[in-house]
Amino acid sequence: MNNFEESTSGNQLLRTNVPDLTTELCGLRLKNPVIASSGTFGYGLEFDKILDLNALGGFVVKGLSREPIEGNAPPRVVETASGMLNSIGLQNVGVRAFVADKLPKLARLNTAVFANVFGYAPEDYVEVLRILEDAEGLAGYELNVSCPNTKHGGMQFASDPILLAEVVGMARQVVRKRPLIVKLSPNVTDIAVVARAAEQAGADAISLVNTLVGLAVDASTRRPRLGANLGGLSGPAIKPIALRMVYQASQAVKVPVIGLGGIASGEDVAEFLICGATATQVGTATFWDPRSPQRLVVELSDWLAKEGVPSARELVGTLAWND
Ligand SMILES: Cc1cc2nc3c(=O)[nH]c(=O)nc-3n(C[C@H](O)[C@H](O)[C@H](O)COP(=O)(O)O)c2cc1C
Repeated sequence: MNNFEESTSGNQLLRTNVPDLTTELCGLRLKNPVIASSGTFGYGLEFDKILDLNALGGFVVKGLSREPIEGNAPPRVVETASGMLNSIGLQNVGVRAFVADKLPKLARLNTAVFANVFGYAPEDYVEVLRILEDAEGLAGYELNVSCPNTKHGGMQFASDPILLAEVVGMARQVVRKRPLIVKLSPNVTDIAVVARAAEQAGADAISLVNTLVGLAVDASTRRPRLGANLGGLSGPAIKPIALRMVYQASQAVKVPVIGLGGIASGEDVAEFLICGATATQVGTATFWDPRSPQRLVVELSDWLAKEGVPSARELVGTLAWND
């Protein structure tokens, strides 16, 4: 659809272009392809006075588990020369408190709210999803599979196609009402294999990337700088890796791909769409600019207008490989 509009100002006929930002994701119509990512946007409500939540394509709440989790010992976040390293330890209020205290307020919003779900065994995911399926006010689920599977010696679900297929397959049995997005880890050798495993096990969409495992060292004390030793690297430093993986994953699967990792501007959003993402998420940028999700919507619109592209959807998967 061409959304270029004509308007009059005095006697002059001006041509103003208003790019169409809407996108469709698993049957959901999003206002735009900018979603705030899990773990960097609280439960959304914390940002209510900082920006207009309804101006976003949507947001993903902090990962939810069966029981509340206090998280890791501090320091939980450190800044490195290139990127942020965190090990929060999946602190959250637990799914029941989320449904009772947060969801009624979130349900009043006019934007897509996604619940991020995690566990340490497939049964944990199933239990959280069962509780959420009975609740109102969510647009969909995002499974965080970058968690250690305690039944398999702490190996991450996302790092092994068989473990991944088991957890996604079990989640698929429970999820009836809403799209099931599976969030993949970049800490794998071949993202195409993992993406296909998620799709075949029943994912309606995949999102990637989660953080890259890293280590920050204090040379004076000869200790890791994070309380929990290892952490996840995020922010603009990881964007080239994320773009590569989004491109490879989108070539490997037919389901929609949501791209994230280091997005900090509207042009970054455009790059992810070009690499095959139907929508994008923004995380670490909210740490230095809490309004960044809304800013990116405006910047994307401006960028499309400048480039003469009538709709964001038109960019999706248009990367032309050099010969
Ligand atoms: C402090 C922090 C907490 C996070 N918590 C979660 C989480 O609970 N669940 C999840 O799936 N991803 C979590 N993430 C990963 C982000 O959602 C995102 O995938 C990653 O940071 C890459 O995007 P970015 O570079 O835009 O931040 C967290 C990231 C950060 C920085």
